[in-house]
Amino acid sequence: MDKIFSGVQPTGNLHIGNYLGAIKNFVELQNNGKARCFYCVVDLHAITVWQDPINLKKEIMETAAVFLAAGIDPKKSIIFNQSKVLFHSELAWILNCICRIGWLNRMTQFKEKAGKNREKVSVGLYNYPVLMAADILAYKSNYVPVGEDQKQHLELARDIAQKFNYDYSVNFFPEIKPLIFGKATRVMSLRNGNSKMSKSDISDYSRINLTDSADLIYNKIKKAKTDSNEIMGIEALDENGNIKSEILYSRPEAVNLLNIYSALADIEIKETLQNFQGKEFRYLKDSISEILVEVIVPLGNKIKDMLEDKTYILDILNDGAEKARGDAEKNLKEIKEIIGFI
Ligand code: TYM
Repeated sequence: MDKIFSGVQPTGNLHIGNYLGAIKNFVELQNNGKARCFYCVVDLHAITVWQDPINLKKEIMETAAVFLAAGIDPKKSIIFNQSKVLFHSELAWILNCICRIGWLNRMTQFKEKAGKNREKVSVGLYNYPVLMAADILAYKSNYVPVGEDQKQHLELARDIAQKFNYDYSVNFFPEIKPLIFGKATRVMSLRNGNSKMSKSDISDYSRINLTDSADLIYNKIKKAKTDSNEIMGIEALDENGNIKSEILYSRPEAVNLLNIYSALADIEIKETLQNFQGKEFRYLKDSISEILVEVIVPLGNKIKDMLEDKTYILDILNDGAEKARGDAEKNLKEIKEIIGFI
Protein backbone atom coordinates (compact mmCIF):
# COMPACT_ATOMS: atom_id res chain seq x y z
CA MET A 1 0.00 0.00 0.00
CA ASP A 2 1.23 3.51 -0.77
CA LYS A 3 2.15 5.65 2.21
CA ILE A 4 1.78 9.41 2.33
CA PHE A 5 3.63 11.52 4.87
CA SER A 6 3.65 15.27 5.35
CA GLY A 7 4.33 17.70 8.14
CA VAL A 8 3.60 21.26 9.19
CA GLN A 9 5.66 23.22 11.71
CA PRO A 10 3.77 24.56 14.73
CA THR A 11 5.35 27.98 14.47
CA GLY A 12 2.19 30.09 14.39
CA ASN A 13 0.46 32.18 11.74
CA LEU A 14 -0.65 29.36 9.47
CA HIS A 15 -1.67 31.13 6.28
CA ILE A 16 -3.39 30.57 2.93
CA GLY A 17 -0.07 29.43 1.42
CA ASN A 18 0.07 26.54 3.90
CA TYR A 19 -3.58 25.79 3.28
CA LEU A 20 -3.74 26.03 -0.52
CA GLY A 21 -0.24 24.67 -1.13
CA ALA A 22 -0.35 21.76 1.28
CA ILE A 23 -3.14 21.13 3.80
CA LYS A 24 -5.98 21.23 1.25
CA ASN A 25 -4.08 18.61 -0.74
CA PHE A 26 -3.62 16.45 2.38
CA VAL A 27 -7.41 16.26 2.62
CA GLU A 28 -7.85 15.43 -1.05
CA LEU A 29 -5.29 12.62 -0.85
CA GLN A 30 -6.87 11.27 2.31
CA ASN A 31 -10.27 11.21 0.63
CA ASN A 32 -8.88 9.36 -2.40
CA GLY A 33 -8.51 6.53 0.07
CA LYS A 34 -5.66 4.94 -1.86
CA ALA A 35 -2.88 5.33 0.68
CA ARG A 36 -2.14 5.24 4.40
CA CYS A 37 -1.75 8.91 5.32
CA PHE A 38 0.43 10.30 8.11
CA TYR A 39 -0.02 14.00 8.87
CA CYS A 40 2.38 15.27 11.47
CA VAL A 41 2.78 18.41 13.56
CA VAL A 42 6.56 18.67 13.36
CA ASP A 43 7.42 20.13 16.75
CA LEU A 44 11.02 18.86 16.65
CA HIS A 45 11.56 20.91 13.52
CA ALA A 46 10.03 23.96 15.19
CA ILE A 47 12.73 24.10 17.88
CA THR A 48 15.52 24.46 15.31
CA VAL A 49 14.88 28.15 16.03
CA TRP A 50 13.98 29.44 19.49
CA GLN A 51 10.40 28.73 20.63
CA ASP A 52 8.89 29.97 23.84
CA PRO A 53 7.73 26.77 25.66
CA ILE A 54 4.28 28.06 26.60
CA ASN A 55 3.68 29.36 23.12
CA LEU A 56 4.96 26.16 21.51
CA LYS A 57 2.33 24.13 23.41
CA LYS A 58 -0.35 26.50 22.10
CA GLU A 59 0.94 26.31 18.52
CA ILE A 60 1.05 22.50 18.52
CA MET A 61 -2.61 22.45 19.53
CA GLU A 62 -3.47 25.09 16.94
CA THR A 63 -1.75 23.25 14.11
CA ALA A 64 -3.59 20.06 15.02
CA ALA A 65 -6.84 22.09 15.14
CA VAL A 66 -6.11 23.41 11.62
CA PHE A 67 -5.64 19.84 10.34
CA LEU A 68 -8.97 18.80 11.83
CA ALA A 69 -10.87 21.91 10.79
CA ALA A 70 -9.55 21.59 7.23
CA GLY A 71 -11.02 18.10 7.02
CA ILE A 72 -8.26 15.70 7.97
CA ASP A 73 -10.23 12.92 9.56
CA PRO A 74 -8.61 10.96 12.40
CA LYS A 75 -10.60 7.90 11.31
CA LYS A 76 -8.96 8.00 7.89
CA SER A 77 -5.54 9.54 8.57
CA ILE A 78 -2.96 9.33 11.32
CA ILE A 79 -2.58 12.73 13.00
CA PHE A 80 0.15 13.14 15.59
CA ASN A 81 2.98 15.30 16.81
CA GLN A 82 6.50 14.32 15.93
CA SER A 83 8.08 14.47 19.41
CA LYS A 84 5.72 11.73 20.62
CA VAL A 85 7.25 9.18 18.27
CA LEU A 86 10.88 8.77 19.28
CA PHE A 87 11.72 6.77 16.15
CA HIS A 88 11.93 10.01 14.16
CA SER A 89 14.91 11.19 16.22
CA GLU A 90 16.50 7.77 16.25
CA LEU A 91 16.29 7.37 12.49
CA ALA A 92 17.49 10.96 12.01
CA TRP A 93 20.75 10.00 13.75
CA ILE A 94 21.20 6.98 11.52
CA LEU A 95 20.50 9.06 8.42
CA ASN A 96 22.93 11.75 9.65
CA CYS A 97 25.58 9.09 9.14
CA ILE A 98 24.39 8.47 5.56
CA CYS A 99 23.91 12.09 4.45
CA ARG A 100 27.01 13.97 3.26
CA ILE A 101 27.92 17.43 4.51
CA GLY A 102 28.27 18.62 0.90
CA TRP A 103 24.63 17.73 0.28
CA LEU A 104 23.47 19.83 3.22
CA ASN A 105 25.69 22.71 2.15
CA ARG A 106 23.62 23.00 -1.01
CA MET A 107 20.30 23.56 0.80
CA THR A 108 19.03 26.97 -0.24
CA GLN A 109 16.50 27.23 2.58
CA PHE A 110 19.28 26.93 5.17
CA LYS A 111 21.27 29.63 3.39
CA GLU A 112 18.21 31.91 3.36
CA LYS A 113 17.29 31.26 6.98
CA ALA A 114 20.81 31.45 8.36
CA GLY A 115 21.78 34.46 6.23
CA LYS A 116 24.87 36.22 7.51
CA ASN A 117 24.37 34.58 10.89
CA ARG A 118 25.62 31.18 9.72
CA GLU A 119 28.01 30.55 12.60
CA LYS A 120 25.41 31.32 15.23
CA VAL A 121 22.36 29.34 14.12
CA SER A 122 21.63 25.94 15.67
CA VAL A 123 23.10 22.70 14.35
CA GLY A 124 19.47 21.55 14.21
CA LEU A 125 18.65 24.19 11.61
CA TYR A 126 21.53 22.88 9.50
CA ASN A 127 20.51 19.24 9.55
CA TYR A 128 16.79 19.96 9.56
CA PRO A 129 16.38 18.21 6.16
CA VAL A 130 17.85 14.98 7.57
CA LEU A 131 15.11 14.92 10.21
CA MET A 132 12.62 15.48 7.38
CA ALA A 133 14.04 12.46 5.58
CA ALA A 134 13.67 10.47 8.82
CA ASP A 135 10.02 11.58 9.17
CA ILE A 136 9.24 10.25 5.73
CA LEU A 137 11.37 7.12 5.82
CA ALA A 138 10.35 5.96 9.30
CA TYR A 139 7.11 4.93 7.56
CA LYS A 140 8.75 3.96 4.25
CA SER A 141 6.49 6.61 2.70
CA ASN A 142 6.67 6.99 -1.05
CA TYR A 143 4.52 10.11 -1.56
CA VAL A 144 4.99 13.49 0.09
CA PRO A 145 2.54 16.33 -0.58
CA VAL A 146 4.19 19.73 -0.06
CA GLY A 147 4.41 23.24 -1.45
CA GLU A 148 7.07 24.11 -4.01
CA ASP A 149 9.50 25.41 -1.35
CA GLN A 150 10.10 21.90 0.03
CA LYS A 151 11.17 20.37 -3.28
CA GLN A 152 14.90 20.54 -2.63
CA HIS A 153 14.50 18.96 0.80
CA LEU A 154 12.61 16.06 -0.75
CA GLU A 155 15.30 15.55 -3.38
CA LEU A 156 17.79 15.31 -0.55
CA ALA A 157 15.57 12.80 1.28
CA ARG A 158 15.41 10.73 -1.89
CA ASP A 159 19.23 10.82 -2.21
CA ILE A 160 19.65 9.75 1.42
CA ALA A 161 17.26 6.82 0.90
CA GLN A 162 19.11 5.77 -2.25
CA LYS A 163 22.51 5.98 -0.58
CA PHE A 164 21.27 3.87 2.32
CA ASN A 165 20.01 1.22 -0.10
CA TYR A 166 23.28 1.35 -2.05
CA ASP A 167 25.63 1.29 0.97
CA TYR A 168 23.90 -1.71 2.52
CA SER A 169 23.06 -3.41 -0.79
CA VAL A 170 19.37 -3.53 0.00
CA ASN A 171 16.20 -2.35 -1.63
CA PHE A 172 14.66 -1.24 1.64
CA PHE A 173 13.56 2.37 1.25
CA PRO A 174 11.15 3.26 -1.57
CA GLU A 175 11.72 6.13 -3.96
CA ILE A 176 10.33 9.35 -2.47
CA LYS A 177 8.04 11.21 -4.84
CA PRO A 178 7.03 14.80 -4.08
CA LEU A 179 3.38 15.63 -4.71
CA ILE A 180 3.34 19.32 -5.58
CA PHE A 181 -0.02 20.04 -7.12
CA GLY A 182 -2.94 22.47 -7.21
CA LYS A 183 -3.03 26.06 -8.35
CA ALA A 184 -1.13 27.54 -5.44
CA THR A 185 2.10 25.61 -5.01
CA ARG A 186 3.94 28.83 -4.21
CA VAL A 187 1.83 31.66 -2.79
CA MET A 188 3.82 34.87 -2.56
CA SER A 189 3.81 37.66 0.01
CA LEU A 190 1.11 40.31 -0.41
CA ARG A 191 3.77 42.97 0.16
CA ASN A 192 6.48 41.63 -2.13
CA GLY A 193 5.69 39.35 -5.04
CA ASN A 194 9.25 38.07 -5.11
CA SER A 195 9.23 36.55 -1.65
CA LYS A 196 7.20 33.60 -0.43
CA MET A 197 4.22 34.12 1.85
CA SER A 198 5.70 33.08 5.16
CA LYS A 199 4.68 32.52 8.80
CA SER A 200 7.79 34.31 9.96
CA ASP A 201 7.46 37.52 7.89
CA ILE A 202 7.44 40.39 10.39
CA SER A 203 4.63 42.08 8.48
CA ASP A 204 1.26 40.52 9.24
CA TYR A 205 -0.01 42.32 6.13
CA SER A 206 2.20 40.06 4.00
CA ARG A 207 -0.13 37.10 4.54
CA ILE A 208 -3.73 36.04 5.14
CA ASN A 209 -3.76 33.93 8.28
CA LEU A 210 -6.33 31.17 8.54
CA THR A 211 -7.86 32.82 11.60
CA ASP A 212 -8.08 36.36 10.21
CA SER A 213 -11.43 38.13 10.53
CA ALA A 214 -13.38 39.33 7.49
CA ASP A 215 -12.45 42.95 8.24
CA LEU A 216 -8.78 42.15 8.47
CA ILE A 217 -8.92 40.16 5.22
CA TYR A 218 -10.55 43.10 3.38
CA ASN A 219 -7.92 45.43 4.78
CA LYS A 220 -4.97 43.23 3.92
CA ILE A 221 -6.16 42.63 0.36
CA LYS A 222 -6.90 46.34 -0.06
CA LYS A 223 -3.33 47.14 0.95
CA ALA A 224 -1.79 44.30 -1.09
CA LYS A 225 0.89 45.57 -3.47
CA THR A 226 0.01 45.74 -7.18
CA ASP A 227 1.47 47.69 -10.08
CA SER A 228 0.26 50.69 -12.02
CA ASN A 229 -0.85 48.83 -15.16
CA GLU A 230 -4.25 47.36 -15.77
CA ILE A 231 -4.74 43.60 -15.45
CA MET A 232 -3.29 41.60 -18.33
CA GLY A 233 -5.21 39.20 -20.56
CA ILE A 234 -4.53 35.76 -21.97
CA GLU A 235 -1.61 37.07 -24.02
CA ALA A 236 0.28 36.66 -20.71
CA LEU A 237 0.13 32.87 -21.15
CA ASP A 238 2.67 30.72 -22.95
CA GLU A 239 1.78 27.81 -25.24
CA ASN A 240 1.39 25.52 -22.21
CA GLY A 241 -1.13 27.79 -20.51
CA ASN A 242 1.34 29.03 -17.90
CA ILE A 243 2.14 32.67 -17.17
CA LYS A 244 5.12 33.70 -19.34
CA SER A 245 8.33 34.02 -17.37
CA GLU A 246 8.91 37.63 -18.43
CA ILE A 247 5.48 38.58 -17.00
CA LEU A 248 6.21 36.68 -13.80
CA TYR A 249 9.44 38.62 -13.59
CA SER A 250 8.05 42.06 -14.40
CA ARG A 251 4.66 41.83 -12.62
CA PRO A 252 5.09 39.37 -9.71
CA GLU A 253 2.42 40.97 -7.47
CA ALA A 254 -0.21 40.92 -10.23
CA VAL A 255 0.55 37.29 -11.04
CA ASN A 256 0.37 36.35 -7.36
CA LEU A 257 -3.08 37.90 -6.91
CA LEU A 258 -4.35 36.23 -10.07
CA ASN A 259 -3.00 32.88 -8.86
CA ILE A 260 -4.57 33.31 -5.43
CA TYR A 261 -7.92 34.06 -7.02
CA SER A 262 -7.69 31.05 -9.37
CA ALA A 263 -6.79 28.74 -6.50
CA LEU A 264 -9.62 29.94 -4.27
CA ALA A 265 -12.21 29.94 -7.06
CA ASP A 266 -10.77 26.66 -8.33
CA ILE A 267 -10.62 27.85 -11.92
CA GLU A 268 -7.81 27.88 -14.47
CA ILE A 269 -5.61 30.97 -14.64
CA LYS A 270 -6.82 31.47 -18.23
CA GLU A 271 -10.37 31.94 -17.02
CA THR A 272 -9.23 34.37 -14.33
CA LEU A 273 -7.35 36.41 -16.94
CA GLN A 274 -10.41 36.45 -19.19
CA ASN A 275 -12.58 37.63 -16.29
CA PHE A 276 -10.33 40.50 -15.24
CA GLN A 277 -8.52 41.49 -18.43
CA GLY A 278 -8.17 45.27 -18.82
CA LYS A 279 -9.76 46.01 -15.44
CA GLU A 280 -8.29 47.92 -12.54
CA PHE A 281 -6.90 45.90 -9.65
CA ARG A 282 -9.65 46.95 -7.27
CA TYR A 283 -12.09 44.63 -9.11
CA LEU A 284 -9.78 41.67 -8.67
CA LYS A 285 -9.12 42.65 -5.06
CA ASP A 286 -12.85 42.83 -4.28
CA SER A 287 -13.36 39.38 -5.75
CA ILE A 288 -10.40 37.93 -3.84
CA SER A 289 -11.64 39.39 -0.56
CA GLU A 290 -15.15 38.03 -1.14
CA ILE A 291 -13.96 34.54 -1.91
CA LEU A 292 -11.44 34.60 0.94
CA VAL A 293 -14.18 35.54 3.36
CA GLU A 294 -16.30 32.73 1.96
CA VAL A 295 -13.55 30.10 2.25
CA ILE A 296 -11.22 31.19 5.04
CA VAL A 297 -13.53 32.76 7.64
CA PRO A 298 -15.59 29.54 8.12
CA LEU A 299 -12.32 27.59 8.35
CA GLY A 300 -11.03 30.05 10.96
CA ASN A 301 -14.26 29.69 12.93
CA LYS A 302 -13.93 25.90 12.87
CA ILE A 303 -10.32 26.17 14.08
CA LYS A 304 -11.46 28.34 17.00
CA ASP A 305 -14.31 25.89 17.81
CA MET A 306 -11.89 22.95 17.77
CA LEU A 307 -9.62 24.74 20.22
CA GLU A 308 -12.48 24.92 22.73
CA ASP A 309 -12.06 21.19 23.33
CA LYS A 310 -8.38 20.63 24.08
CA THR A 311 -8.98 17.12 25.43
CA TYR A 312 -10.44 16.06 22.10
CA ILE A 313 -7.34 17.30 20.25
CA LEU A 314 -4.97 15.69 22.76
CA ASP A 315 -6.78 12.37 22.49
CA ILE A 316 -6.44 12.46 18.71
CA LEU A 317 -2.72 13.27 18.93
CA ASN A 318 -2.12 10.49 21.46
CA ASP A 319 -4.07 7.98 19.48
CA GLY A 320 -2.27 9.00 16.26
CA ALA A 321 1.13 8.71 17.93
CA GLU A 322 0.27 5.22 19.13
CA LYS A 323 -0.59 4.12 15.58
CA ALA A 324 2.43 5.86 14.07
CA ARG A 325 4.71 4.17 16.63
CA GLY A 326 3.41 0.78 15.56
CA ASP A 327 4.39 1.38 11.92
CA ALA A 328 7.72 3.05 12.67
CA GLU A 329 8.84 0.48 15.23
CA LYS A 330 8.57 -2.34 12.73
CA ASN A 331 10.61 -0.43 10.15
CA LEU A 332 13.26 0.68 12.66
CA LYS A 333 13.74 -2.93 13.75
CA GLU A 334 14.50 -3.91 10.17
CA ILE A 335 16.76 -0.89 9.66
CA LYS A 336 18.82 -1.82 12.73
CA GLU A 337 19.09 -5.37 11.52
CA ILE A 338 20.37 -4.13 8.13
CA ILE A 339 22.93 -1.88 9.81
CA GLY A 340 24.22 -4.66 12.02
CA PHE A 341 23.03 -3.54 15.45
CA ILE A 342 22.32 -6.36 17.88
P1 TYM B 1 6.11 24.48 6.80
O1 TYM B 1 5.57 24.32 8.16
O2 TYM B 1 7.00 25.63 6.50
O3 TYM B 1 4.93 24.54 5.75
C1 TYM B 1 3.90 23.58 5.73
C2 TYM B 1 3.50 23.27 4.28
O4 TYM B 1 3.05 24.48 3.65
C3 TYM B 1 3.75 24.67 2.43
N1 TYM B 1 3.93 26.12 2.23
C4 TYM B 1 3.50 26.78 1.14
N2 TYM B 1 2.86 26.38 0.02
C5 TYM B 1 2.57 27.34 -0.89
N3 TYM B 1 2.89 28.65 -0.74
C6 TYM B 1 3.52 29.09 0.36
N4 TYM B 1 3.82 30.38 0.51
C7 TYM B 1 3.87 28.14 1.36
N5 TYM B 1 4.49 28.24 2.57
C8 TYM B 1 4.52 26.99 3.07
C9 TYM B 1 5.08 23.97 2.63
O5 TYM B 1 5.68 23.63 1.40
C10 TYM B 1 4.67 22.76 3.43
O6 TYM B 1 4.23 21.72 2.58
N6 TYM B 1 9.86 21.29 6.42
C11 TYM B 1 8.44 21.35 6.36
C12 TYM B 1 7.72 20.47 7.36
C13 TYM B 1 8.14 19.03 7.34
C14 TYM B 1 7.83 18.08 6.35
C15 TYM B 1 8.40 16.86 6.79
C16 TYM B 1 7.14 18.15 5.14
C17 TYM B 1 8.86 18.39 8.31
N7 TYM B 1 9.02 17.08 7.98
C18 TYM B 1 8.32 15.71 6.03
C19 TYM B 1 7.05 16.99 4.40
C20 TYM B 1 7.63 15.78 4.84
C21 TYM B 1 8.05 22.80 6.67
O7 TYM B 1 8.77 23.52 7.28
O8 TYM B 1 6.81 23.12 6.33
